[in-house]
Amino acid sequence: MILLTGATGYIGSHTWLALDAAAMPVVGIDDFSNSSPEVLRRLAALGADVSRFAQVDVTDRAALAEVFERWPIEAVVHFAAKKAVGESVARPLLYYANNVGGTIALAETMRAHGCRRIVFSSTATVYGQPRSLPVREDAALEPSSPYASTKLMSENILRDVERSDPAWRIALLRYFNPVGAHPSGTIGEDPRGTPNNLMPFVAQVAVGKRARLQVFGSDYETADGSGVRDYLHVQDLAEGHVAALKHLLGGGDSLTLNLGTGQGVSVLELVRAFERASGRPVPYEIAPRRPGDVAAYYADPALAERLLGWKARLGLDAMCADSWRWQAANPDGYAGS
Ligand code: WQD
Repeated sequence: MILLTGATGYIGSHTWLALDAAAMPVVGIDDFSNSSPEVLRRLAALGADVSRFAQVDVTDRAALAEVFERWPIEAVVHFAAKKAVGESVARPLLYYANNVGGTIALAETMRAHGCRRIVFSSTATVYGQPRSLPVREDAALEPSSPYASTKLMSENILRDVERSDPAWRIALLRYFNPVGAHPSGTIGEDPRGTPNNLMPFVAQVAVGKRARLQVFGSDYETADGSGVRDYLHVQDLAEGHVAALKHLLGGGDSLTLNLGTGQGVSVLELVRAFERASGRPVPYEIAPRRPGDVAAYYADPALAERLLGWKARLGLDAMCADSWRWQAANPDGYAGS
């Protein structure tokens, strides 16, 4: 069975569905600190087997041990982490305790139960301000926030564990910008409070929850002056995890991979695409640059394609259409149900 930590979160829930579709049985754990039990009902309504779930804090070693004693876990996908860059600057100890502490507690429990296959949810912001584009996996690692540092530390911990015991196989997946939702419109991204990220904010403007978008800077060295990112459909991202698990369970070597489309999209391009997809206006105003933002970054996705045969299939229009379907059907996210 495949253990998903953070299983009812945004990426976790979409990966649960993808694993179920691939006939890979899932055990889910989550502490619901940034997700809702309603997600389990939505996954079940989509036909997923949610019979194996436990509410667990990933830093709780005793609770983790119970999960491994209760179900035969052959591999783990570790999503559970706090991921708000701004919050990590204000509360670094919370991020180190939860994100790094959680990885240590999980790896110790895995080792104690003879489970040595892990896919780790990492982030492209371990590269900080990339010196060249597109970003390859051998780019300089210069995390620019405590959040990014916790992810790089977790990567290093897992790499050191493998060095200490070559029986381990680890896949470190560095996500660029996950967006979108399952095409059913019944699961999706449900940020608490004011969204930090662009796509959920745009969706909330389109659905009328927010008056307008603030575009953080229009004087970047990019085609239209607004920030450029590599947006990746969460369905493609979920498939990337299935491919990584099959690789590790099939005896494949450890991997460090960028998961992105390789295409850069600007803020203004995404706004226009969302207006087309939703048929709604997305009013915006130009605001000052957001501290810490870079002008542009997007992935070189060649290694993931070469080693896993994985390539993003869905484009910006699908990302916006699926995001809109979720937002329009769930204006208050899961809270509304
Ligand atoms: C995208 C673009 C903004 C909001 C972050 C984290 C990263 C990862 C993904 C966890 C930028 C602009 C945004 C808004 C705007 N998270 N923007 N108005 O900053 O690339 O990456 O999320 O792993 O760790 O750093 O994503 O969606 O915040 O911003 O103009 O209200 O949209 O300036 O150019 P980012 P984002």
